[in-house]
Amino acid sequence: MHAMPALRDTAPPSRLGAWSERWSAWRDRLLSSPAFRRRAAAFPFTAPIARRSASQLFDLVAGFVYSQVLHACVKLDLFELLAEGAQDVRTISGRLGLPLESTERLLDAGVALRLFERRGRDRYGLGPLGAPMVGNDAIAAMVRHHAALYADLADPVAFLRERPAQTALGQYWPYADASAPEGLAAASVAAYSDLMTASQPLVADEILDAYPIGRHRALLDVGGGEGAFLISAAARVPPSTKLMLFDLPAVAERARRRCAASGLGHRIDVYAGSFLDDELPAGADIATLVRVVHDHDDAAALRILRAVRRALGTDGVLLVAEPMARTRGAERMGDAYFGIYLFAMGSGKPRTQAALTALLHEAGFDRVQALRTRMPLQTGLLVARVARTTEAAP
Ligand SMILES: C[S@@+](CC[C@H](N)C(=O)[O-])C[C@H]1O[C@@H](n2cnc3c(N)ncnc32)[C@H](O)[C@@H]1O
Repeated sequence: MHAMPALRDTAPPSRLGAWSERWSAWRDRLLSSPAFRRRAAAFPFTAPIARRSASQLFDLVAGFVYSQVLHACVKLDLFELLAEGAQDVRTISGRLGLPLESTERLLDAGVALRLFERRGRDRYGLGPLGAPMVGNDAIAAMVRHHAALYADLADPVAFLRERPAQTALGQYWPYADASAPEGLAAASVAAYSDLMTASQPLVADEILDAYPIGRHRALLDVGGGEGAFLISAAARVPPSTKLMLFDLPAVAERARRRCAASGLGHRIDVYAGSFLDDELPAGADIATLVRVVHDHDDAAALRILRAVRRALGTDGVLLVAEPMARTRGAERMGDAYFGIYLFAMGSGKPRTQAALTALLHEAGFDRVQALRTRMPLQTGLLVARVARTTEAAP
């Protein structure tokens, strides 16, 4: 059970607010009238809008089926198979080991979703959304692990009424409710660490293109996973730049192995511990929290930010990179997807830039600035500086 949040602003709306509420009520009445919708669909000026809205609404209705079509294609390695070239449906059916009729249904569904294209009678090739899936471990890993999320959401109202103490997604991310995350065993961090490494290319370049990391002398990646971000960063900084990673012991061990395998074992110092309880290594003039803060409720998030603030000493920069709430053009990712996802995980929430900024101020940072990323859908980016006036926060 979760405590009810305090009621939000209950002040009466301003004059403008009252007008806008009346306008919204009028629009809602119109749009909920079947007669109005019929007229709008027939009238030449409104017909395209009506069709677009109907199509968007249908996408919401059918979204689960679309996701499962994609899931099946990923599980069957169908994108890789068609990357060899367009093939006849019987060949595809034989190679997938699926009945012919199921193969046709899957391929036709994929054509409608632009994953595949028909290339002549009974032949199928990759489509505009299928081609980018070839070898795309990042998206494939996200698709595969959604099985846990969908299991948790099977009865969405029951889930929202009383979020279970244990969820399938929470088990996937065992640090989400661990009282002693530093004790997590190697086996329990493996799946999420693989997913993070696979999906890190979706964010690393976004961050590194938006902020000139090369001007710093020492970078500490906090909650840095297996080191994928630092391995990308290493290519953007001079060889003299010190690179440090901090993560839970079982993940740190994986990071050591991955950094060594990438030939960067000598450049990246890996530190193990819990950022909720342990001191972070000192000496960095820039720290990064990539897809970390949103995993934690406010009290824990504040603890992490304060730990980073102490590690940076009296000067330094912090980059917070993660999908953010109410980001124009990325609301579906920030608010709908991550809002529900993190709720199912059992900890954390997507935050607006303003909410993150407030936490950063409270932790002893100031001069918080949002930097533009090319794909806010994948990550937003805030840069903050250690406040000049504060002592290291406790
Ligand atoms: C969502 S992952 C992000 C990993 C990486 N920054 C990335 O973007 O690929 C969160 C990371 O925080 C680490 N983490 C969670 N709780 C932690 C704790 N108490 N102390 C240190 N690291 C922790 C996890 O092990 C994981 O590597």
